[in-house]
Amino acid sequence: MALEPSALLMARAALLLVFGTSSCGAIQWLGLTANGSAVGWNESQHCRLLDRLLPDQYQLCKRNLELMPTIVHAASQTKLACQRTFSDMRWNCSSIELAPDYTPDLMKGTREAAFVYALASAAVSHSISRACAAGELPTCSCGAMPAEVPGPNFRWGGCGDNLRYGLQLGAAFADAPMKFSKSGTQATRLMNLHNNAVGRQVLIDSLETKCKCHGVSGSCSVKTCWKGLQDLGDIGDDLKSKYLAATKVIYRHMGVRKQLVPKELDIRPVRDAELVYMVSSPDYCNKNPKLGSYGTQDRLCNKTSVGSDSCHLMCCGRGYNAFAETVVERCQCKYYWCCYVTCKKCERTVERYVCK
Ligand SMILES: *[C@@H]1O[C@H](CO)[C@@H](O)[C@H](O)[C@H]1NC(C)=O
Ligand SMILES: *[C@@H]1O[C@H](CO)[C@@H](O)[C@H](O)[C@H]1NC(C)=O
Ligand SMILES: *[C@@H]1O[C@H](CO)[C@@H](O)[C@H](O)[C@H]1NC(C)=O
Ligand SMILES: *[C@@H]1O[C@H](CO)[C@@H](O)[C@H](O)[C@H]1NC(C)=O
Repeated sequence: MALEPSALLMARAALLLVFGTSSCGAIQWLGLTANGSAVGWNESQHCRLLDRLLPDQYQLCKRNLELMPTIVHAASQTKLACQRTFSDMRWNCSSIELAPDYTPDLMKGTREAAFVYALASAAVSHSISRACAAGELPTCSCGAMPAEVPGPNFRWGGCGDNLRYGLQLGAAFADAPMKFSKSGTQATRLMNLHNNAVGRQVLIDSLETKCKCHGVSGSCSVKTCWKGLQDLGDIGDDLKSKYLAATKVIYRHMGVRKQLVPKELDIRPVRDAELVYMVSSPDYCNKNPKLGSYGTQDRLCNKTSVGSDSCHLMCCGRGYNAFAETVVERCQCKYYWCCYVTCKKCERTVERYVCK
């Protein structure tokens, strides 16, 4: 009996060794894209594919094996949407490919990490909501009929995305790591939970009415409508605006309890709609592995743009080199009755620019 507490201590110490130092554990499941699409997810040992799935996620996996292909899909969608959304920025989300072994840009509570947490959390719920409607999951189907009264020229019908179910199960999966007390400090866990919730709120706000027309020869005199989610790319765009306006916070007493509050400006609670971060990012101009910065040398830039992809901003004032690239296009297309089109292939030289 006397041995028991120390055995427990040793077990805890072992857990600490495995999970203790990382505060990024919560998005390691994005690494499932590497191995997760190669198996049938019909045996609970498949849940070990990502050895760093945290205990609660591991349990969720074992109890919901049939959900896992949807989670793997969400992981690859997150990577795609992140890289597409940030392709015109100095930090271009390429490091997300390293999951689950992230570089410091995504490990340290930065603005970039805040964005990825929010996007990944939205993506899980998004994928589950859509998978329900597509009949891919045994435990759910179409979303409930909207409570709103339909307009004069349409009726509710079709099969809407099951956002309710997606939010419920998606939150359980995405937030599970933060329930684990060794996954970072209380402050980072609060920050991650907050950003996850912001992602889901943007997802909720993206729900829109989609319709299909009926009636004589497309007259659209009768419409069937349902509630559907926008694509994850649109949700990424919304989250990018929030990324640009993200608030730096610290964890300190406000009133009787400690919470996240803005570091500068007014003293107020954190707002539900804002992304928060605790560690300032580098400008990502120069290569610095310690900070997770790849630098922008050799990145393509746009000479005529005035935005973040302009050669001036992208190259951080270092200047750029021009090179010629040959692009092949379809041209001189002709329409033949009936019904095909033939085109020629034309070559055109365009000038491109890369940062020095
Ligand atoms: C899982 O699926 C694979 C391939 O589809 C099959 O060989 C294997 O027997 C299945 N395992 C179980 C436990 O059903
Ligand atoms: C994928 O599986 C291989 C072999 O089982 C393993 O070594 C590797 O760590 C896994 N990758 C990830 C991202 O879990
Ligand atoms: C993103 O940036 C990295 C590092 O500068 C670069 O290697 C990569 O090609 C970039 N990706 C895209 C899609 O521009
Ligand atoms: C460069 O930026 C301009 C202005 O934003 C845009 O019209 C053009 O398509 C861009 N060129 C490339 C190659 O992306």
